[in-house]
Amino acid sequence: MKALVLAGGKGTRLRPLTYTLAKQLVPVANRPVLHYVMDQIAATGIREVGVILSPETGEQIRDALATNPWGFSFTFLLQPKPLGLAHAVRVAQAFLADTPFLMYLGDNLIGEEIAPYVREFETTGADALIFLKEVEDPTKFGVAELDESGQVRRLIEKPKVPPSPYVLVGLYLFGPKIHRAVERVQPSWRGEYEITDAIQLLIDEGGRVISHRLQGWWLDTGKKDDLLEANRVVLDQWAKRKIGKAEIDEESQVVGRVQIADGVRIVRSRIRGPAVIGKGAVLIDTFVGPYSSIGPRVRIEASSVEHVVILEGAEIVGVERLEDSIIGKGARVIRHPNGPRSLRLLIGDDSEVVV
Ligand code: TTP
Repeated sequence: MKALVLAGGKGTRLRPLTYTLAKQLVPVANRPVLHYVMDQIAATGIREVGVILSPETGEQIRDALATNPWGFSFTFLLQPKPLGLAHAVRVAQAFLADTPFLMYLGDNLIGEEIAPYVREFETTGADALIFLKEVEDPTKFGVAELDESGQVRRLIEKPKVPPSPYVLVGLYLFGPKIHRAVERVQPSWRGEYEITDAIQLLIDEGGRVISHRLQGWWLDTGKKDDLLEANRVVLDQWAKRKIGKAEIDEESQVVGRVQIADGVRIVRSRIRGPAVIGKGAVLIDTFVGPYSSIGPRVRIEASSVEHVVILEGAEIVGVERLEDSIIGKGARVIRHPNGPRSLRLLIGDDSEVVV
């Protein structure tokens, strides 16, 4: 078994953040999403991992994987244009050869062990195993039409009238027959080579496509609210109380599951977990509420934040209530005494917002 991780794409839905940062590297609980993906692949025992890169963010992705704590043998594969998931498989054909593989979208998170499915796929010898999740609005996804026994009859990409509430999540297992299918797929109305169309071709030709309903959570971090939700879920499940070599004065209070890295300074402030505070961050006269990820060297003064992802080196001053927000690296948010009390923001790196 090999793995193929898709870390190219455009990331338009997370702009302006993704003008400067690959969306697979946006941090959730102060770790890039892509690292959680790699953790899950490592747990399956797979060691050979191909990573699809775009010309724009390829170098960042390589840098983010350079320390390689998973001990993977990485093969980096440049996809010159984001022409779709089936196109990405075509780009990886020489690397994958005839080996069955696990394909994982580098901006997706799955709250379930995937190793048992990999074992199952190996023993059944199916041509594809896809994962389905029930969602409220399936029109934005690839949707599965199921037969009476619950098996996949048809797959439709972003249908106007969905045949079921079950959508494909960003994890797939494929045997070598997928390569012929991805070669024959025609571009869709949005000009992309869709993986759903390639799987449909497999079904049409009598290939064995099996499906599983995912029991745990699944999050696609490519949009602001989904990323904040991923941050909430990950903090909720994985945050443990751990306080590093930090300077916390007597007037401050740290309550619940809060992770505080070394070099943090907390003055007259209150932190309520689950939350993470990165290295060297400074909090003065501030309240950090649940589901907040405060990046390294962030400075927050006379403010109250909750349900936020604040990236490295950002600064927040005088904001009475900052919530449901993502703040890019080195950005500054400053409130004048008569500015709005409550703010919800998505701002890119190095921006300055004075309100
Ligand atoms: P998407 O989120 O479907 O596409 P996108 O990155 O272009 O995002 P947006 O719609 O916001 O513009 O992609 C899912 C994952 O697959 C994501 O991690 C990017 C990756 N990808 C590739 O590597 N190559 C591609 O051609 C495409 C379309 C996506």
